[in-house]
Amino acid sequence: MTTFLLNRTRIDLPTTDPDQTLLEYLRLDAHLTGTKEGCASGDCGACTVVVGERTEAGLRYRAINSCITFVHSLNGKQVLTVEHLADSGQLHPVQEAMVKHHGSQCGFCTPGFIMSLFALYHCDVAPDRDAVLNALSGNLCRCTGYRPIIDAALDLLQQRHGDRFSLAAADIEAELKALPAAPNDDGIGFWQPHNRAELGAIIKAQPDARFSAGSTDLALEKTQLVRPLPALIDLTQVAELQLLTVDPNWINIGAAVTYADLAPALLADYPEAREWLERLGSTPIRNRGTLGGNLGNASPIGDTPPLLIALGAEVTLASQTGERRLPVTELITGYRQTVLHTGEWIDTVHIPRRRPNAFVRAYKISKRFEDDISTVCACFYLERDGDQISALRAGFGGLAATPLALKNWTDALLGQSWSNLDVEATAANLAARLHPIDDVRASAQYRVTVTANLWRRFVLESKGGAEPLRVANPGVFHHA
Ligand code: FES
Ligand code: FES
Repeated sequence: MTTFLLNRTRIDLPTTDPDQTLLEYLRLDAHLTGTKEGCASGDCGACTVVVGERTEAGLRYRAINSCITFVHSLNGKQVLTVEHLADSGQLHPVQEAMVKHHGSQCGFCTPGFIMSLFALYHCDVAPDRDAVLNALSGNLCRCTGYRPIIDAALDLLQQRHGDRFSLAAADIEAELKALPAAPNDDGIGFWQPHNRAELGAIIKAQPDARFSAGSTDLALEKTQLVRPLPALIDLTQVAELQLLTVDPNWINIGAAVTYADLAPALLADYPEAREWLERLGSTPIRNRGTLGGNLGNASPIGDTPPLLIALGAEVTLASQTGERRLPVTELITGYRQTVLHTGEWIDTVHIPRRRPNAFVRAYKISKRFEDDISTVCACFYLERDGDQISALRAGFGGLAATPLALKNWTDALLGQSWSNLDVEATAANLAARLHPIDDVRASAQYRVTVTANLWRRFVLESKGGAEPLRVANPGVFHHA
């Protein structure tokens, strides 16, 4: 049984369908058809709803894609849809702003825009355009009507006085607190362990069950491949996987911490990763997606492995019988394959704290600025001892069946003079090591050329010869 609040109504939902999406529940069971299905893959925002949850800082609202969220993962949460905003015929301030600025152009996209703006309304951000663009990064409008929507959002943010949800926050928190914790086992294919010990026991009993955290990729197996997921172990409530600690040497990020929640710690040490992070999916994706999920997928176009490789990150794998820690470079062994044994899970990702002389860049090339898959992702890390290269690492995505480190290429440059580096020779050497494929995103030749150019740019930027690459739309990570 999964229990959550639908607005203020307690729902007790039997676990008869472990991979039922929230969108399916809303439209088919709850008959709330304001939430639309566009792409069913987290790309368009037509299905955006808002989830409320208790945090140490109080009630927090975030936008998510209901099409790729399993409804049973929402135990203990509050779900709000576009139907819940107006009250007794009185529009919510978000809706009033959209009406005033003629921001509602079609019934398909507007509910999603409204819910993204509702989450923004409840977010503590500066009322500026960057925050608005970031909040709307997951909402597509194919009639190109963004301007009035942005105007509505800016107007809205200028006059935030709280709404009835803010006024009722204490009551809503109390109602959420009163909900029962998720049962470990309904016997019907959905398990939600609360700690490592429970997780280990469930994996042992259910060796064929799939792990699910944010489900931003896993759910596509159901919605795009029409492949049912009959047994799921939801990792979002495992307390240890939600830990984030920072010690003098490492930023330790539990595998089920979302991108939105890890952003402040990562960006505090590596502010250069801001654009990379803002372009990792969209705001709703970052509100659900996790490092553990992205690494575990072992996708050649995942955006986190290149940065983690460049930063020299390590990963702890755990099981009922113990744990082992290894460099991220040793985790992924082939196309969507890892060194994980049966019964093991990705537990914690460890990112080295920033060293004073580090120079870092994370570049993403994709057709669309937001919410798009990388054509190439290239990340570089440099340390110099005087003029001598004392550390150099690179991580590349989109260029092979696995993320690449090209350690032979970077190691060959150690000890060389950075100021006298033969950039063209090193770029040619890099290009010669790349053997990508042609696909719908780009030709192999394009990928090789752009990767070598990103290396040239990195060298130039390190010498002050180029401004940091900004493709467009400088944003603000407003959930930080
Ligand atoms: Fe397009 Fe969910 S339906 S993001
Ligand atoms: Fe739906 Fe523009 S608002 S296409």
